[in-house]
Amino acid sequence: ATDMGSDLQQVLITEEQIGQRLDEMAAQIDADYEDRDPLLVGVLKGAVYVMADLSRRLHMSAPMDWMAVSSYGSGTKSSGVVRILKDLDTDVTDRHILIVEDVIDSGLTLSWLVGNLSSRGAASVEIATLLRKPDAAKVEVDVKYVGFDIPTEFVVGYGLDYAERYRNLPFIGTLRPEVYGG
Ligand code: PRP
Ligand code: MN
Ligand code: MG
Repeated sequence: ATDMGSDLQQVLITEEQIGQRLDEMAAQIDADYEDRDPLLVGVLKGAVYVMADLSRRLHMSAPMDWMAVSSYGSGTKSSGVVRILKDLDTDVTDRHILIVEDVIDSGLTLSWLVGNLSSRGAASVEIATLLRKPDAAKVEVDVKYVGFDIPTEFVVGYGLDYAERYRNLPFIGTLRPEVYGG
């Protein structure tokens, strides 16, 4: 396999910057959930790295569960209709859910997920995301913990993929246009 470093255009957020921000987010989550036990819900697959690194910074023992969702039908997400590919193993009735995400783009995935989990009788549903693209929002989503607001630009790494690749870059970056065949 070739070195993916040669596919990179620019590093937007370094591994160190991500770590420092996750420290701050974890401290805030520890404080906010002092008197409640959260259930961490990661959204596969992008959230894997944020979940691993954020949860290890918490001082409480927080159980975690996973969902895999997909926008319904073709590649576009504009419908906002989401299909569950893998559901939670956990009954979330009366649980305090903290959804863990890598990025909020249009907001359609999270908007749907919050509604879905609330309708199952969760006691509370909050969101922690490493990245948010405010200019790309199609629906307003109330996000409690945001790592970084970034421009509407295609980024990869730290869980974010291009055609399932580059998730394992340890930082957030952009790819050279040639990589997309441009
Ligand atoms: C990406 C990302 C978020 C979602 C954000 O997931 O990880 O889950 O899209 O987009 P939205 O705000 O416009 O709904 P994707 O569907 O690419 O799946 P993946 O996590 O497996 O890459
Ligand atoms: Mn995702
Ligand atoms: Mg993806």
